[in-house]
Amino acid sequence: WPIWLACVAGGYLVGSIPFGLIFARLFGLGDIRKIGSGNIGATNALRTGNKPMAALTLAGDVLKGTVPVLIASRWGGEAAILAGLAAFLGHLFPVWVGFKGGKGVATYLGILLGIAPIGVLVFAVVWLSVAFLFRYSSLAALAATLVVPVVYAALGYMDAAALTAILTAIVYIRHHANIRRLLAGTEGKIGAKG
Ligand code: G3P
Repeated sequence: WPIWLACVAGGYLVGSIPFGLIFARLFGLGDIRKIGSGNIGATNALRTGNKPMAALTLAGDVLKGTVPVLIASRWGGEAAILAGLAAFLGHLFPVWVGFKGGKGVATYLGILLGIAPIGVLVFAVVWLSVAFLFRYSSLAALAATLVVPVVYAALGYMDAAALTAILTAIVYIRHHANIRRLLAGTEGKIGAKG
């Protein structure tokens, strides 16, 4: 139990680090929550026009998922899954910034890297294809996160499939405004300033 508690608390605290907010401030770009969609993720970071800042945000948010999973995996697969889930919820509901966090896509990718890296390949192929064809980051994320648990299940990674099915459901709930904009044809395209 103490180990599991440490995995949850550690994962949550790491997941809570708002990299988009921090990097935007460090680059002198102000409060990223006042730009574009108002989200603190890499997609919105790109709307500032500063690609290095967006790349750093992406890297930070991905690693927030990977590092807790890899550390916790020393205590077994269940500990790793708990740490991943905690990191993901930390990103969505960060203790440092009034529990108003991001949408979880980059951290989802980082968790895949930690638990079963084949999922990263699946995610990347689907995300890049949809993003290339339609130029919507949200649509690419919705497609990629739908396919990942299905492929894990098909390959027999049942723990990873169960975890990602839960994460995907949360990603969908978190993208409700994006889904509405996609349906209305008003969603912002990748890189377009908002
Ligand atoms: O990864 C988040 C992305 O799917 C949507 O971001 O800023 O367009 O709401 P945003």
